[in-house]
Amino acid sequence: MKISVVGGGYVGIVTGTCFARLGHEVTIIEIDAGKVAAVNNGQPPIYEIGLEELLREHAAKNLRASTSFASIASADCVFICVGTPPKPDGSPDLSFIASASASVGTHVKNRASYCCIVVKSTVPPGTTEKIVMPAVLKQAGTAGDAIGFAMNPEFLREGRAIEDFMHPDRIVIGSNSPRAGELVEQIYQGISAPVIHTSLSAAEMIKYTANAFLATKISFANELGNICKHLGIDVYEVMKGVGYDPRIGPLFLNAGAGFGGSCFQKDVSALVHLAKEVGEDPVLLQSVLCVNEQQPHRMIALLEGKLGSIAGKRIAVLGLAFKDNTDDIRDSRAVPVIRELLQKGAVVSAYDPMAVPPMQRLFPGIEYCSSAAGALNGADGCLVMTEWPEFSRLDKEFDLMAQRIIIEGRRILSCKGADGICW
Ligand SMILES: NC(=O)c1ccc[n+]([C@@H]2O[C@H](COP(=O)([O-])OP(=O)(O)OC[C@H]3O[C@@H](n4cnc5c(N)ncnc54)[C@H](O)[C@@H]3O)[C@@H](O)[C@H]2O)c1
Repeated sequence: MKISVVGGGYVGIVTGTCFARLGHEVTIIEIDAGKVAAVNNGQPPIYEIGLEELLREHAAKNLRASTSFASIASADCVFICVGTPPKPDGSPDLSFIASASASVGTHVKNRASYCCIVVKSTVPPGTTEKIVMPAVLKQAGTAGDAIGFAMNPEFLREGRAIEDFMHPDRIVIGSNSPRAGELVEQIYQGISAPVIHTSLSAAEMIKYTANAFLATKISFANELGNICKHLGIDVYEVMKGVGYDPRIGPLFLNAGAGFGGSCFQKDVSALVHLAKEVGEDPVLLQSVLCVNEQQPHRMIALLEGKLGSIAGKRIAVLGLAFKDNTDDIRDSRAVPVIRELLQKGAVVSAYDPMAVPPMQRLFPGIEYCSSAAGALNGADGCLVMTEWPEFSRLDKEFDLMAQRIIIEGRRILSCKGADGICW
């Protein structure tokens, strides 16, 4: 099929590349000309395992990128994958969705054949029906049977995105007609996963609910970890014993510095905002966010407990990405940690295998090192923020520190002498 993907960020580029891998003719439409040029040259604009190889295989063959929306005129299906970042009040900014929908509408005008517009971005229930459909139809100048609408939320995890896209747990397709739903299902032919057909708004709500549940599991593990730390109990032993219960499951119970990334904080905040709008008081969801906000401060408090004042002290921060195997720092727990260290007068040396450039844009004034050893050299304390596998092998590098004070926010180190945030 001919597919246009609007938005070539983390989701759009993985979606477009994987659809090309499934044999479709794909055009990624992206307003950032730099990303367009990179894709057309077979260079991934983001770091994602396996993406470079796939791009090299498909770029300039059945995968193209463009700043123009012209490919939509002949596309069988258009996937909208633009960002839905949080506004200050927690609600999602849907202006990119509205603007992308209007552009799509302009280019589906006067089409002779059927086309389906699919929202893949995470959006509040009602968005596809109340924002996307009217915007497209208004520009297209049609009332509608020639255009179908669907909502197909994305569940990929950054760092494992290609693997997740090609081997999903399930494919959720909300649609406004059986024809639209079936067309989207056909696109995924070749991928083995249960397909769940729903209404448009149920599909939208499934994504928010899944992310809110996962975030809740993490904050739950962190709160229990904070209690276990006082009691001298290893919360990882506890969660191992708990996770065997199939009603609970073993995943997402790793206590630590809290969740980061572009989705959990944003989507739980959006759900809190939505709940308040309909007159609910979402106490549980608000607590999930509250626990998460406090975790990074606990690491600094632990550090201060050992070092006293950190003013003028050199503190190494290992790991800047919100998780391993990505260069994404959006909502990374390293951000509030570095901010507080600087506020308290510490001198920060930082290292990450992938995420130094984006963090340099946020904190240009700190020292960035090309290795963990470089960051640790002469440091009075160390905070481990990301579970990069290479950190698990560190040991004698910590001897380069002025004082071997190590606080772990992720359980990744194998050496002795580190203090965990919750263990
Ligand atoms: N990142 C994830 O792990 C993930 C996982 C599942 C779902 N999602 C959801 O997917 C959506 C996209 O997330 P992302 O991380 O890819 O965001 P992103 O910010 O990395 O990418 C969005 C891209 O859209 C482009 N864009 C904006 N307006 C445009 C327009 N009118 N036309 C063409 N391009 C336009 C931007 O330049 C940017 O490159 C969000 O709703 C997010 O919540 C993200």
